[in-house]
Amino acid sequence: MKRKVLFFALVVAILMMAVPMTALAQGPECQDVVTIQKDDWLSKVADKYFGNIFAWPAIMAIHNQAALANPEKFPDKVINADVIEVGWSLCIPTADEADAFLATYDPAKPELLYASGDSGQLVIGSWWTAGGEAEGLAGMFRIYKELYPGVEIVNATVAGGAGTNFKAVLATRLIGGDPPDTFQLHAGLEVETYSPEQFLEPADDIYASEGLEDVFPADLLALLKYKGHYWGVPANIHRSNVLWYNKAVFEANGLTPPTSFDEFIAVSDALQTAGIQPYVIGTKDGWEAAHVFENVLVGTLGADGYKGLWTGATDWSGPEVTQALENFKMMMSYANPDHPALTWDGAGEYLINGTGGMMIMGDWTDGWFTSKAFTGYGWAPPPGTQGTFVALSDSFSLPKGAPDAENARNWLKVVGSKAGQEAFNPKKGSICARTDCDPALFNEYLQSAMVDWSQDAIVPSVVHGAAAIESWATDYKDALILFVGTGDVAGTQALLQQACVDAGVCQ
Ligand code: GAL
Repeated sequence: MKRKVLFFALVVAILMMAVPMTALAQGPECQDVVTIQKDDWLSKVADKYFGNIFAWPAIMAIHNQAALANPEKFPDKVINADVIEVGWSLCIPTADEADAFLATYDPAKPELLYASGDSGQLVIGSWWTAGGEAEGLAGMFRIYKELYPGVEIVNATVAGGAGTNFKAVLATRLIGGDPPDTFQLHAGLEVETYSPEQFLEPADDIYASEGLEDVFPADLLALLKYKGHYWGVPANIHRSNVLWYNKAVFEANGLTPPTSFDEFIAVSDALQTAGIQPYVIGTKDGWEAAHVFENVLVGTLGADGYKGLWTGATDWSGPEVTQALENFKMMMSYANPDHPALTWDGAGEYLINGTGGMMIMGDWTDGWFTSKAFTGYGWAPPPGTQGTFVALSDSFSLPKGAPDAENARNWLKVVGSKAGQEAFNPKKGSICARTDCDPALFNEYLQSAMVDWSQDAIVPSVVHGAAAIESWATDYKDALILFVGTGDVAGTQALLQQACVDAGVCQ
């Protein structure tokens, strides 16, 4: 009898354990399943069910849990809150579930909006939201998913070119002890700003296990090593100094891309006469003018003179920097008046629709043009920079205390792999950091960049993290954005000199 009672108790206990497990496997409870109609969006659905447009995160999060648990019933996950398609079935949580979720929801943690797979999540922080960049990243996600299907990837982007907004969000998360699992970091001195010994994990063992020292060029490896460690694995090499132009506009006016600042004036005058905006730029995010100016500095001072600016060998107060500022001022006199309202890609629209002639921007523009199916663009080094490649590289890093550290380590392995780089770079508009990618996968521009990378003088970009510590790069950027408004050559040169002093490099 006693044994029967014991047996019965055991069965009950097992059943009690099994119930929540089954509930979990079935996913959360849905009070309703809604089929998305034309003109539906998440906050509208939230308003309908909860009388609160701000309850949309609860629907997104709990629907995504339901979709993971029951993919046949809910085949579509909500990856982007702004994109829900007609015909999708969404799980609407109960009011209690929604309230419980919203009580702990933190908008700074996008991972809360996604489910967690059998092997957890992989929260990837970056600023790649523009066309080309987003597709490149998705290409690498595909490779990762094939290898680690049990991991839910959370694409934790913060829009804003060159990381304008992302870097501040990231710093808050790192300092708050609440990091994403991995994040985008430029190769070079940018790492200093994250106090790597305090906030990051070295990636040295990944270099060893994946043989990465054998597949990246020595110059890049040197750029990646800081205080004796590798703090990130690079995905690519980008080129900062590219002048993009509309081929049809140039052909129609019998023009070729300018190789000197004098030629820039002649070409611009001809374009102006033809009713075309000669030179286009967007300065909305505060880094774009500084980006162009790093290339004007190279074009005016030459590769060695430019490099010396970041080591103290070249004088920021000298006549060549004065000349560089004069050159940039001249260029801005041909620029589109709406530049303060435009981002880099917004300005690129001028080239696509043929109302603008030239733009100077990094080669993510090649990825962006391609994503817009625009093929009518030509490229050349900006004036004076022939034979010099202004370089930068995007890597991914490992924050200390990442919730899914193992998944992040595997992400870095994919980032450094041939398959990962070949999936990413042709779309991103960059060339592989590895030396063994298949050139046939790349378009004509990128193939030309590969040749230049192998034979040009290589100098580091300051705006994209390679040449200087972040605080100096920021002072430099701030001086340039002021300059665009004031045109004050002497005042700006004094600010640039002071920035070098503050960085501890100049006297
Ligand atoms: C750079 C980054 C590139 C591209 C660009 C525009 O800093 O290295 O990959 O994203 O910003 O956002």
